Amino acid sequence: MNPLAFFQSPTSAALSSGSRSINPSIARSRSLIINHLTVNYRSMQALSDVSFVVHPGSLVGIFGPNGAGKSTLVKAMLGLTPRVAGEVFYKGQLLAEQLECTAYVPQRSQIDWSFPASVWDVVLMGRVRKSGYFHRFSATSRRIAASALERVGMADYRDRRIGELSGGQQQRVFLARSLAQEAEVFIFDEPFVGVDQKTEDILFRIFRELANAGKIVLLVNHDLGETITHFDQLILLNRELIASGDRTHVLTPDNMTRAYGGHVRFFGNQAA
Ligand SMILES: Nc1ncnc2c1ncn2[C@@H]1O[C@H](COP(=O)(O)OP(=O)(O)OP(=O)(O)O)[C@@H](O)[C@H]1O
Ligand SMILES: [Mg+2]
Repeated sequence: MNPLAFFQSPTSAALSSGSRSINPSIARSRSLIINHLTVNYRSMQALSDVSFVVHPGSLVGIFGPNGAGKSTLVKAMLGLTPRVAGEVFYKGQLLAEQLECTAYVPQRSQIDWSFPASVWDVVLMGRVRKSGYFHRFSATSRRIAASALERVGMADYRDRRIGELSGGQQQRVFLARSLAQEAEVFIFDEPFVGVDQKTEDILFRIFRELANAGKIVLLVNHDLGETITHFDQLILLNRELIASGDRTHVLTPDNMTRAYGGHVRFFGNQAA
């Protein structure tokens, strides 16, 4: 199904979204709606009029070449980068106004790894919104944080400094923090960069479990190899949306040429 089919003409009865109208029943559902998002950095247009829909229970990969605007897209969705136009809705409200249900892990290069926090501190941070900023963590919060660390296989590392861990271990700790947060929308920017195979397997297993439990999981990804088969939906970007949908719909030679300029080989198909 074409995700853009959800967007109606501005004249239909619809939720007001500022720029365009959206079918009200879809808007109030638990789908994530990216509606005509445009982002400029000074005079440079980083993203132009990007629209797509993600349904609950989906594991989504966001692909595109370096500089395609993948990180910009996820930051703009969360309100971390100013938008020129467009909005993002979840459950009928702006996603940026309900960040308590959203877990975001930025690209590695944007994290300060010298920050003097232990693994346990990082995971407990996932409970801050639930516990309140000036309250002690409850026994329930501690139990949830401990079980999240256990789930990613990092319970033995709870007293280690986050900066001392390998890239894969760090990524697992950040996943534990988002599990502790009990988020509904998980957004990870390049979570597989610099991680070992064991971590990649653990991350994909948990991302799949989250999607199967009805959550929305969006992963910015570079790898067009076999891991692409894990995703239910692919978003292909190059400053604009090139395609959104399943693999057969998105990974066509024409789309790949538009995104990558025609010199890329990818799993299960070939674009030259
Ligand atoms: N804060 C900023 N100020 C100015 N330009 C920026 C800023 N952030 C990103 N850009 C530019 O916007 C474009 C998109 O950047 P973005 O980081 O979103 O791409 P990306 O697809 O995530 O790339 P990568 O695969 O390298 O992570 C690039 O040309 C980048 O140089
Ligand atoms: Mg990026």
